[in-house]
Amino acid sequence: MLVINKINPLKAKIGALKRKGLTIGFVPTMGALHEGHLSLMRRAGRETDIVVVSIFVNPMQFGPKEDYKRYPRPVQQDLHLCRSAGVDIVFSPSDKEIYPFTARPFRTSPQASDTLTRTFVDMYKLTETMCGKSRPGHFRGVLTVVNKLFNIVEPDIAYFGQKDYQQALVIKQMVTDLNMDVQVKVMPIVREKDGLAMSSRNKYLTPAERQEAICLYRALLKATELICSSRRPVSAVKIIGAMKGIINSVRHSRIDYIAVVDPQTLEPIKTITYRQVLIALAVYIGKTRLIDNFLICK
Ligand code: PAF
Repeated sequence: MLVINKINPLKAKIGALKRKGLTIGFVPTMGALHEGHLSLMRRAGRETDIVVVSIFVNPMQFGPKEDYKRYPRPVQQDLHLCRSAGVDIVFSPSDKEIYPFTARPFRTSPQASDTLTRTFVDMYKLTETMCGKSRPGHFRGVLTVVNKLFNIVEPDIAYFGQKDYQQALVIKQMVTDLNMDVQVKVMPIVREKDGLAMSSRNKYLTPAERQEAICLYRALLKATELICSSRRPVSAVKIIGAMKGIINSVRHSRIDYIAVVDPQTLEPIKTITYRQVLIALAVYIGKTRLIDNFLICK
């Protein structure tokens, strides 16, 4: 396995592999790898010739009060996991390599990200709701870095996890809107035995909070039960009410949002009839913000 920190040598290596006719599978990550990431890497290994993983904690996608500084960075462990998952190349750049520009631009703006880049990718609508509403500027940071990484790696297929449903959707939309030559695949959420969705941020939870964190999964199960057991259309208000009941019964929980939305447009659905619905939520357990979702097909 090759570990490359600089853009130019990586591009040269990938260029040479592509000239041999090999296909590139790409798994962008922020490290602190878990089974969810590894499932993407293994899938990439089955579907493409060369698996490239990026490990980069992207400052541009964190708000000023968020956990950028304390985000876990277990470098050696991550490299070991990549090796065990059959990864060919790990791209692990410094902040300067990705964002060489550091001066504040001429126009002041509330986005902290303006100190990192002059040019960025942003999107209307899909980014204005759910996580985008609670984390202003987050998706601008995600889209900009993913765009840069796609330009650097030039993957044939890029793999993302469904846990970040909105992220995967906006990345797919960017690829369509900007005519990018990459196929985006979204893979199922990998869960702990008790149902908690795997996340790098689960590491922040104290043992007591870890127990409480299953309330997200339990709330999603309850929503599924309400939707699937009823012969009549169910209202979103009823579902959200039942989910709130479960989450609020947990001592250290604070709901950021619960969304009952159309899986393609992320627009709220008032009444669930016979179509697909996305139930997504973000909940603080103590200081840790966790997200999860179910795509329900009635
Ligand atoms: O999902 C993540 O880990 C990040 O948002 C991503 C896609 C690697 C961009 O920094």
